[in-house]
Amino acid sequence: MGFDGTIKIQQKNNDLNNLLRVGGNYMFSEKLNNAPMGYTFDDFMMLPSVSSVEPKDVETTTQISRNYRINIPIISSAMDTVTESEMAIALAQEGGLGVIHRNMTISEQINEIRKVKRSGDLTIRDVITIDPEASIKEAQEIMDEEEISGLPVVQEGIVVGIISRRDVQPILNSTPQGKVMDIMTEEVVTVSESTTPEEALDIAYENKVERLPVVDDGFIVGILTMRDILARKNFPNASRDKKGRFLVAAATGPFDLERAMALDDAGADIIAVDCAHAHKPSIVKFAKTMNENIEADLLVGNIATSKAAEDLLSAEVDGLKVGIGPGSICTTRIIAGVGVPQLTAISSVADIAKDYDVPVIGDGGLRYSGDVAKALAVGADAVMLGSLLAGTHESPGDVVIMNGRKFKQYRGMGSLGAMTGGVGAGTDRYFQEVKGPMKHAKLVPEGVEGVVPYKGHTNEILFQLIGGIKASMGYCGATDIKDLQKKAKFVRITSSGITESHPHDLMITNESPNYPTSRLM
Ligand code: XMP
Repeated sequence: MGFDGTIKIQQKNNDLNNLLRVGGNYMFSEKLNNAPMGYTFDDFMMLPSVSSVEPKDVETTTQISRNYRINIPIISSAMDTVTESEMAIALAQEGGLGVIHRNMTISEQINEIRKVKRSGDLTIRDVITIDPEASIKEAQEIMDEEEISGLPVVQEGIVVGIISRRDVQPILNSTPQGKVMDIMTEEVVTVSESTTPEEALDIAYENKVERLPVVDDGFIVGILTMRDILARKNFPNASRDKKGRFLVAAATGPFDLERAMALDDAGADIIAVDCAHAHKPSIVKFAKTMNENIEADLLVGNIATSKAAEDLLSAEVDGLKVGIGPGSICTTRIIAGVGVPQLTAISSVADIAKDYDVPVIGDGGLRYSGDVAKALAVGADAVMLGSLLAGTHESPGDVVIMNGRKFKQYRGMGSLGAMTGGVGAGTDRYFQEVKGPMKHAKLVPEGVEGVVPYKGHTNEILFQLIGGIKASMGYCGATDIKDLQKKAKFVRITSSGITESHPHDLMITNESPNYPTSRLM
């Protein structure tokens, strides 16, 4: 073939290439040929390493946002069948964190935050007091009604005395109309807001008192009781704020500044921007605005790629949440055909976030403690759990009995039920809007609704999860989570490896608390 012929052939090939090119750069076939592999929990095992680490000695504390560190790497999902105040309290008591969902009005969500803060607050803030001019009989009636043993005596906000049952009882029958001021103890032992629980305990012991009014410049702001201070010792790992109250997080929509600011005012420590796809220039820009308007740390998600991490980190967010479609109730990957298998997603985001010292939360898809350990080992600082905590006593909703077994409802926030129930927070999580009647017909769900077996109390689930993570760290020779991230090595496995990993060739007769055979599917 002559020179001309060659040119013609080249020309023909170029035309073909142009037809196949996408955006001038890629061939369609290259999209497939160059596609990276995406892996998830069942694709790898961690290699056992030489180890002198005993599981009982490992540390599980972890950073969950720029300014908050907690004792166990567990956070509960912002879902309406997982986290309201009861779950957030249960997690904070054990050293984790709950994210109050947003499928409720702002004032309802504030109320949930306040319940968590009140429950973990040693200082009782709505103190019941009595006026010095009140009668002894009145004092006795209030103490009976409120089932308390003493009352601070307060005049125009200032503590002027304290009265107890011991003062009242000897003279109640003889002088019921006598005045409180005549029998109260005037020398009141008080503490200030900055007194630590240990100091308060010493003061109470030294002065042989049960109750210590908390004052600010003489004005009463609360009361501490010995009983509450001692009860605090039951939760040595609890997640607490600077004032000793439980830590709590709350979710907001990506553009819902009003909600974010209200949650911040109500005392939420972390505000979690909750949406299905946070890698949008508008969200990145708004995250910056939100962060500038709140004191709480700002956790943003969900994302699944290193580019998304880079863009959000440029907005100086305080934590990143990873997971597009791994959740047990998610159908995003099936409905939209989009997502990244979760171990690959976590590691891609963590590769970038570690350079900024910003924590990464792996959200969704975790079924066993081993999955949590793998998530931590590829760079997550903590995990967010939906299905593992749904079905516990502390998750919202009632127990239902079907065929003699107990269940609780669990549904995706992008399910029809969640998008049309509550305040419909699921709709903007998935960038949808519905107005008028026939709402169901106009929504494209990305989640399903179902039930999970009733699992008992959250602290029992957490005990098993943390026990499993500690065992994993023992096998890998890691003393803490950062050490696990450094030391853990992986082996890629096949589907026969997975089959071999699960119990096989027997019928399980005694179910283990950390390996339920009642798992659905
Ligand atoms: P697990 O696997 O723990 O997952 O049950 C909980 C996480 O799933 C996310 N989530 C959803 N994702 N459609 C989705 O694609 C949904 O309807 C949905 N609802 C929740 C969320 O990140 C949660 O923490």
